[in-house]
Amino acid sequence: MGHHHPFLFSLFLLLFSTATADDGATILKLANSITPLPSGWSTKSSTTFCSWHGINCDSSKSRVTSISLSKLSLSGTLPPEISTLSELQSLSVQGNQLSGDLPSLANLTNLQYIFLDSNNFTSIPPGFFQGLTGLQTLSIGNNVNLSPWKLPTDLAQCTSLTTLTANDCQLFGSIPDVFGSLPSLQNLRLSYNNLTGVLPPSFANSGIQNLWVNNQQIGLSGSIEVIGSITQLSQVWLHVNQFTGPIPDLTECKSIFDLQLRDNQLTGIVPASLVSLPNLVNVSLSNNKFQGPVPQFPPSVITVKNEGINKYCAGPGAPCDALVMTLLEIAGGFGYPSTLSDKWDGNDACGWPLVTCDAGKKNVVTVNLAKQQFTGSISPSFAKLSSLKSSVKLITKPGNPFLRTDVDTSSGGTTNGTSSGGTTSGGSSAGSTKIPGGMIAGIIVAVVIFIVVLSFILYKYKKRHPKSGKELKQDGGKAFFKNEVAGGGNGYNKVPIALHGQSSDGDNSKNIFEGGNVAVPIEFLRQVTDNFHEINIIGRGGFGVVYRGELHDGTKIAVKRMESTVMINKGTLHLHGSSGSQLHWMWQEESSICTV
Ligand SMILES: *[C@@H]1O[C@H](CO)[C@@H](O)[C@H](O)[C@H]1NC(C)=O
Ligand SMILES: *[C@@H]1O[C@H](CO)[C@@H](O)[C@H](O)[C@H]1NC(C)=O
Ligand SMILES: *[C@@H]1O[C@H](CO)[C@@H](O)[C@H](O)[C@H]1NC(C)=O
Ligand SMILES: *[C@@H]1O[C@H](CO)[C@@H](O)[C@H](O)[C@H]1NC(C)=O
Ligand SMILES: *[C@@H]1O[C@H](CO)[C@@H](O)[C@H](O)[C@H]1NC(C)=O
Repeated sequence: MGHHHPFLFSLFLLLFSTATADDGATILKLANSITPLPSGWSTKSSTTFCSWHGINCDSSKSRVTSISLSKLSLSGTLPPEISTLSELQSLSVQGNQLSGDLPSLANLTNLQYIFLDSNNFTSIPPGFFQGLTGLQTLSIGNNVNLSPWKLPTDLAQCTSLTTLTANDCQLFGSIPDVFGSLPSLQNLRLSYNNLTGVLPPSFANSGIQNLWVNNQQIGLSGSIEVIGSITQLSQVWLHVNQFTGPIPDLTECKSIFDLQLRDNQLTGIVPASLVSLPNLVNVSLSNNKFQGPVPQFPPSVITVKNEGINKYCAGPGAPCDALVMTLLEIAGGFGYPSTLSDKWDGNDACGWPLVTCDAGKKNVVTVNLAKQQFTGSISPSFAKLSSLKSSVKLITKPGNPFLRTDVDTSSGGTTNGTSSGGTTSGGSSAGSTKIPGGMIAGIIVAVVIFIVVLSFILYKYKKRHPKSGKELKQDGGKAFFKNEVAGGGNGYNKVPIALHGQSSDGDNSKNIFEGGNVAVPIEFLRQVTDNFHEINIIGRGGFGVVYRGELHDGTKIAVKRMESTVMINKGTLHLHGSSGSQLHWMWQEESSICTV
């Protein structure tokens, strides 16, 4: 009788090894990894696995095609052997308390549906998205204990994907720019994660209909411009992020019925193309920095959330002042920068920072947008401010790469754009050059008026003017730098500066200005005043701060830096020399310096 046992044992081994040729062993592993055991399952033998509850096999009755174990209160893990189920088309284990590492499903090309959501999984294996070429739906949301993970660029291999649901599952980092590879994608739900960065440009012209990227911990940022080119969009949840800039033109997005934009940093005027979306039902705009008039939606829009901190000019139904609208158009040229939305609040442009009006508070006389790091374009609406004072000299170099006037720091002509070394400040007539992304950037309006009054302090024991306290008057009422001061377009450091004054008593040797109407480069003034170092401050006048400066030849000068927005078309300024000799120069402004 004892001889029967080895035989039976061998037979069992034979059966077992037969089973390993099909998917039985893997399902047996699964049975031993989860509790409670689903009804009809065995942890000992897999001979009937194809008829177990939730398991489907192909016609050969050896290969598993689907596993359906959703909402069975299962705990335990998914065994790594699941990666061998090469005929698997559908894996549904959602709504359990399964935990531990997810098995690799990479290269299971038959897999079409993966439902892992609402579990307690702790990690995603590397290469998880590789080779899932048949995958249509991946749902992995509500796995709050996953170790933080990024959406990999491997996602691009899931070329059949129509639905990706990955909300509240510890995603961080940026959304990979792979949507050009996912032409079938319709539903993308990435809400309640820690995603950062921008909406990927490849969203444009994708087939996405439902886009949920709301409620990120730190927040997605940048513009939402791309939304305007996803024409099938129907539901768009962007709320609770850090998006900036204006709402794009939504004319082409006729299917949008639900647009949630609240709790961002969006700016600008709410476009008419949003208000007139034909299918719009729900919209939220609250807690942004929207400007202009409060949008008035038709009655077909049922839910409008538009409270909280926006920057509308006035209450609902009230129009904005014409000056306000003009200045908003100017802000629009720069893409409605947040700083301007913060500063330009309300319906009285004459009370706004950076804007100065005339005494009647009717006309804007100056707009000072210097050094705001704005990009974009200079709005033609500047022309509507017909009372702007002072002539403006447009200096297009250096620093405007799209005007090809950026400083050429390379020696071998390796600058981006055309290979021609010359910098031309006019319109670039080389029609073959392409401007990336259609953006024209780098234009900054700086309306900084420097009024320069020079006073000469006579050193070296000149006794020719014994009446040192006497007020001298500049010849002809004009004071100018010599031409070569500003003549050179480059290398300001090497400008052979020689300043001369022209005194009324004909002493040409010491203080001679030679004629010529010259704009004085800021670089030069920085140079001689040690970059307007406060150590060189010698006084504060009604229009600005006066700095001491020294020319290469030792001549001392005083420079008044006018920082306010006051502009003087033609005027005279008085400056008193610091040596005790009171000098009085008339200065006639010929051209303002406007760095652009
Ligand atoms: C999820 O897993 C964590 C450990 O990773 C455990 O502490 C927690 O109790 C689990 N939650 C559930 C609902 O099973
Ligand atoms: C998937 O298959 C490709 C090509 O056969 C291979 O390079 C890759 O390593 C596989 N991925 C995984 C995670 O096994
Ligand atoms: C969010 O992600 C950033 C990295 O992008 C990380 O520094 C930060 O700690 C994360 N925040 C949380 C709450 O996990
Ligand atoms: C609109 O929002 C309300 C709640 O504010 C919600 O009950 C309703 O289902 C939403 N309608 C649509 C079409 O999204
Ligand atoms: C040239 O273009 C490249 C890529 O577009 C960029 O990384 C680089 O900074 C540019 N160089 C200059 C001098 O603008």
